[in-house]
Amino acid sequence: MSENLIISQSTDKASKYEALIPQIEALIAGESDLVANLANVSAALKQTFDFFWVGFYLVKNNELVLGPFQGPIACTRIQRGKGVCGTAWQKEETIIVEDVDEFPGHIACSADSKSEIVVPAFKNGEVSMILDIDSELLNHFDKTDAAWLEKLMSIIGKSDSI
Ligand code: SME
Repeated sequence: MSENLIISQSTDKASKYEALIPQIEALIAGESDLVANLANVSAALKQTFDFFWVGFYLVKNNELVLGPFQGPIACTRIQRGKGVCGTAWQKEETIIVEDVDEFPGHIACSADSKSEIVVPAFKNGEVSMILDIDSELLNHFDKTDAAWLEKLMSIIGKSDSI
């Protein structure tokens, strides 16, 4: 495994994702433990984009339970259909929130979070976990983030052997 990510900080975000995703794929390829892999993926995203909060919620016993993350402490359990995370799980699709104050039922783990993207991963056709990324800036996420993060979650979903 490579010890360092090689990402040019001078390029646009699409180029960063393009450089990052194969490195994440290589990073998790040699490890079968889900928590170890999600911990490294959180760190790789934080290191590359300096997001305010980035992490995973795992579907366990029909609720979302906090998994590996980088950032301030967060709420530990989210019900299906609740908040942005529970809604993305229920709808089985990526949700981009330009302004969290405009999203009905948004769960504010931190008052500093202003916009958010949530992307599910699937196992045997069902949502097995979600990736949640929060920004301190309004309208931080767009279709470019969604497309690359969906690719990432497809790789992670396939590698999830647990
Ligand atoms: N804002 C999320 C809760 C998780 S925290 O942002 C880490 C939501 O509304 O589901």
